[in-house]
Amino acid sequence: MEVRIMENAFEISKEVSSILINKVKENPHAVLGFATGASPVETYKRMIEAFEKGEVSFKNVTTFNLDEYCGLTHEDENSYYWFMKENLFGKVDIDYEKVNFLSGDEAKSEKSCREYSEKISQAGGIDIQLLGIGTNGHIGFNEPADSFSDGPFKVRLTSSTISSNSKYFVNKKMPEYALTMGIGDIMRARRIVLIATGEGKADAVFKMIKGEVSPSCPASVLQNHNDVIVYLDKESAKLL
Ligand code: GLP
Repeated sequence: MEVRIMENAFEISKEVSSILINKVKENPHAVLGFATGASPVETYKRMIEAFEKGEVSFKNVTTFNLDEYCGLTHEDENSYYWFMKENLFGKVDIDYEKVNFLSGDEAKSEKSCREYSEKISQAGGIDIQLLGIGTNGHIGFNEPADSFSDGPFKVRLTSSTISSNSKYFVNKKMPEYALTMGIGDIMRARRIVLIATGEGKADAVFKMIKGEVSPSCPASVLQNHNDVIVYLDKESAKLL
């Protein structure tokens, strides 16, 4: 696990966007795994800027997002699909046919979980998976548990996640369930780049990097991956 401590979120976003953009320049058909939440937003801004300057095109890229709330359709402004449209997809030349999401539609959720890992492998696997980390050490929506998951599944969100994420909800109560890629799906990505900023992440960051590998801190599993870069600001790195 390579750990890079940067001055601030802006400096992190410059490096992480370069990693993603360079991958797309090297292989325009790259497969990218995207995350939502506040952590990747600055990185997405740098990617949009590079697109606007004509430095990169995302039109042949295939994407897989980590997770989605149960019960929220693509048209719901609280959904992660909507978030990706607002913060990246709608502002670059992404081909929506190549965008993959776990379905927030309850009637489709089981099928979409069953098919997602297969879709990832049919696309050739994920080249780079972008991650954030929850204050409780979750990645995607893999909450602290007794064992590491493999494929996508429906998860009941913990009260800690509900209290961290409720602030993002507009006109609606945050769902208590979500669909998420499993730990196995995340670990099969060839490269993983994780961003954590702010003091609130310091404890989870410490456990991820220095703690034992345990499903009680899902992000600790990344210690077992051979190509992970963790980008931290000074606040999130303060316990290291
Ligand atoms: C959310 C998402 C994760 C995200 C994490 C951190 O619950 N499911 O994918 O990485 O929590 O969010 P933030 O970046 O807003 O702190």
